[in-house]
Amino acid sequence: PGGGPLAGKRVLVTSGPTHEPLDPVRFIANRSSGKQGHAIARAAADLGADVTLVSGPVSIPDPPGVTVVHVETAREMLAAVESHMPVDAAVFCAAVADWRAAQPGEEKLKKDGSGAPSFSLVENPDILATIAKRTEARPTLVVGFAAETEKVIEHAQSKLARKGCDWIVANDVSHAGPGVGVMGGDRNTVSIVSQAGVENWPTMGKDAVATRLAERMAKQLKDTQWV
Ligand code: PMT
Repeated sequence: PGGGPLAGKRVLVTSGPTHEPLDPVRFIANRSSGKQGHAIARAAADLGADVTLVSGPVSIPDPPGVTVVHVETAREMLAAVESHMPVDAAVFCAAVADWRAAQPGEEKLKKDGSGAPSFSLVENPDILATIAKRTEARPTLVVGFAAETEKVIEHAQSKLARKGCDWIVANDVSHAGPGVGVMGGDRNTVSIVSQAGVENWPTMGKDAVATRLAERMAKQLKDTQWV
């Protein structure tokens, strides 16, 4: 304890999908495995940070040396994130469901011959934007992710501006599918997008992306320490 370039820093990471209930047994979700977010939490801890990982439902183990808070829905994820502020850096890697059912069934919905149910959807809170736009106790460094299938950099730049974060880690998920591509897979090709420009990283394992990102964060926190 005590060593490492992130020693003395508090880092929060979100990871995995969220599950938004339709009824007690059914939910809306996505293919995020938690691999990338969990790797970032671990990499930050390996560099000496005090790390809290807020994770949606995943089937991979909790990373060692990290405090893990398990949640299901976007609203639970937001509450957990807010209760762990302030931090020095926050990384939003979770694939949060954009919408939830306005009125999930209280009982299991029955196939009763009256046709398929319909749901109206309402928007979930944007966790990244909520934290990035805080006026009090905003983290020094707020990092978002962007999963895009086309015009990756362009969309990442508009997300950076719209959500008010410092960096967007843009990843191309155009080849996503069961066990294939960025979501769920083991490799990632990312670009770091900020006001300063765009940095393209080569395709790497998610652990290597995590280590490089954690090192980059340590450098940024050091550079902004006396500002
Ligand atoms: O989990 P893996 O299988 O390893 O896959 C990793 C990943 C592809 C999920 C990850 O690298 C990634 O790109 N995560 C963000 C995916 C995403 O949902 O992006 P988005 O474009 O919907 O959201 C943009 C940013 O806003 C993200 O930082 C997201 O965490 C955040 N967000 C989005 C919606 C919302 N309601 N709240 C948020 O905080």
